[in-house]
Amino acid sequence: MKMRITTNVPNRLVLWALSLLTCNYGQAQSTVFLIPQPASLKVNEGFFQLSSASKVVYLQDSLAFSANWLAEKINQATGWKLAAVNRNENGDIVLQINSSYDNQIGTEGYRLSVSPKVVKIKANTSAGIFYGVQTFLQLLPAPVESTSPVKSTWQAPAVEIIDYPRFRWRGVMLDVSRHFFTKEEVKRYIDQLVRYKFNTLHLHLTDDHGWRIEIKSLPRLTQIGAWRVVRHGYFGSRRPVQQGEAATYGGYYTHEDIREMVAYAKQRHVNIVPEIDVPGHCMAALAAYPELSCTQQIVHVDPGTAFSEWYGNGTFKMLVDNTLNPANEKVYEFLDKVFTEVAALFPSPYIHVGGDECYKGYWAENEECRKLMKQLNTRHIEDLQGYFMSRVEKIIRSKGKRMIGWDEVLEGGVSPEVIVMGWRGVKGGIEAARQGHQVIMSPTTYAYFDYQQGEQTIEPPVYASLRAKKVYSFEPIASEVDPRQVLGVQGNVWTEQIPHMRHLEYMTYPRAWALAEVAWSPRESKNWQDFTRRMEYHFLRADMAGINYARSVYDAIVQTQQREGNLIVKMATEIPDLQIHYTIDGTMPDHRSPVYQTPFVLPEGKITLRVITYRNGKPIGRLITLSPEQLAQRTKLYDSTLTD
Ligand code: ACM
Repeated sequence: MKMRITTNVPNRLVLWALSLLTCNYGQAQSTVFLIPQPASLKVNEGFFQLSSASKVVYLQDSLAFSANWLAEKINQATGWKLAAVNRNENGDIVLQINSSYDNQIGTEGYRLSVSPKVVKIKANTSAGIFYGVQTFLQLLPAPVESTSPVKSTWQAPAVEIIDYPRFRWRGVMLDVSRHFFTKEEVKRYIDQLVRYKFNTLHLHLTDDHGWRIEIKSLPRLTQIGAWRVVRHGYFGSRRPVQQGEAATYGGYYTHEDIREMVAYAKQRHVNIVPEIDVPGHCMAALAAYPELSCTQQIVHVDPGTAFSEWYGNGTFKMLVDNTLNPANEKVYEFLDKVFTEVAALFPSPYIHVGGDECYKGYWAENEECRKLMKQLNTRHIEDLQGYFMSRVEKIIRSKGKRMIGWDEVLEGGVSPEVIVMGWRGVKGGIEAARQGHQVIMSPTTYAYFDYQQGEQTIEPPVYASLRAKKVYSFEPIASEVDPRQVLGVQGNVWTEQIPHMRHLEYMTYPRAWALAEVAWSPRESKNWQDFTRRMEYHFLRADMAGINYARSVYDAIVQTQQREGNLIVKMATEIPDLQIHYTIDGTMPDHRSPVYQTPFVLPEGKITLRVITYRNGKPIGRLITLSPEQLAQRTKLYDSTLTD
C-alpha cells in the first residue's frame, strides 16, 4: 500500500496510518476503503492525480449541487479554488446523467470510472450522481475530510465501479423529543449520513418528554409541550416536577425551520419522515391539552422520571396517564389538525404515527371507552387501539399520505396498505410481511443505536447492548419472507441518554456504517473482517472531519459462564488482529501479561480480572476491570454468539 498521508496531518493520524501499512492486504484492495462496499469494484493500475487545475464539469443543470459539493469539499481540504463548471467547458471530473436509461443501476445507482486521465460519474438520476460523488470522495485520501487545508498526495486509485443499492429504504431515526437537536445539528447529521448513502431521516418529533413541531392551530403544543424542567442524572430516574418550577429545557421546529431542513435534506436526496407518536407516548401533548386523555389529569412534560414500570416480558404500566382517549371525538379533531399541518410541511409520501407501547390501563377504567367497546362489540381492550389506528389511518389517507406504524399496529385495525416498522426483534417485521404489509426492519436486536456498544462497565449506562459486529451481521430478509415486502432497514437512535450532538455521533458511528453496508451492499459481498479494515480507515476520515465515533470495537469482550461450580472466563475481540492481555493477580495488565488464548477457569478466591487489548505491541483498547461480584453477575448476560 502506498503511503498517502503526508505532512500537516496530526501525529496521531500518521501513526495510525502507519499501523495500517503493517496489515497484509492485497495491493489492489489496500488502496480502496469504501463504505458501503459497492456492488462491483475493479481496481486498475495507476492513480488519478487531483490538482489545483482540476475542474468538475456537470453536463446537466440538475447536477450543479453534486458538482459544487465535490468542488467545495476538495477546496476546503486543499485550500485550492477548484471550479464546478457547466457543460460548456472541459474538465477532468465529469458528472453526467445518462441519455438512455441504464437498467443495471436503477434510480439510485451510478457508474464511476477513475483513470489516470479522467473521472467520470454517470447515472440515471441526480441521486445516482450524488452517490457516485460520495464514492469518489471516499477514494481520495482521508485528509479530504478535513475542514481546513492540509497537505496530502490527493490521488484516487484507478477503478471501475458499478453500484446500486440493495434496499430503497436506508434510514436512521433520530429522537428529537427526549433531547432536542437544533436544525443546524439535524443538518450536520444529514451531511454525515449521506456520506454512507442513507436516504431517509425519520424524525421522532413527539413523545412524553417534548413536542418538537409547531402546529399553528394548536399553539399550546409548543408553548407548553416543547418545554420541561431542567434535570440532571440518569434519564428515567429523575425527580418529578415540583409546583411552580419553570420549564426551560427544550425547543421546537417552526414551520420555517421544517421547510429549511426538508429542503436541505432534499438537495442531499434524503426524505425526512415525520413521526407523531400516538396514542401512547403523549404526555407532552397532554401537558398542553389534558382534556384529550381518559383521566384528564393535569400532567407535565416529563423531565425523565420513572413514571413507567417495565416487567421484562413486554408488559408495562404507566403510572401517569400518557395516552389519548380513543373514545373522545375531540382527539380525532385534534389529530386532524396536527396531521393537516404535518402533511403540508413534509413532502414525504409517508407519515409515521407511532402506535408503540400504548398502555391501556386508563382506557379500561374509562366509561366512554367501555361504551365504545360495547359499540364495537368487543370485550378486548386491545381492540380499542385497532379502532384508534384505523381512524388515524383514515386521517392520514385524507391528507394524501401513506401511514407507517411501529409493529404494534399489527394488533388490529389497519389496512394492508400501512407500512410496518418492525422493532420488537425481527419477528414483528416478519409477521407484518407475512400479513402482506410492506416492512422496514429496525429491530432492537440489530438496529437500536441507543444501546451500549461494548463493555458495559465502560460504556455510558443503557439497559441493553448491541455491538457493531452484530449490526453488521443483520440479514433483513428472513427466509420465510417475500423479499419484495421488505423496503429496507433503519437504525433507531433514541436519545434518553444522549444529551448532545457529540454523544449522538458517538452512539451512531461506527454502527451506522455497519448498517449502511447492510442497507446498500449485495448480501454476498458482506465480510466483517474486510469491513473492519475499511471501518478503521473511516475512523481516520471521521477524525479529519471532526466527527465523533466510538472506539468500543477495540475493547475486549469478556464473558463468564458457570460450569460445575467453576467460573469460566471467555474472551474475544470484534476486530480480528488484536491481542488480549489480562491479569488475575491484582496487577495492571501490559504487553508482558498473559495473552488470552482459550477459555480458562478462574481460580477460587477473591479474583479481580483486568483486561486490555494490544495491537503490534501498543495498547489500543480501554482497560476493563471486573470485580469478583461483577464476574459472577456476568454469567446472566452470557451470549454464545460473542465469544464461542
Ligand atoms: C420503540 O422502540 N418503542 C418503537
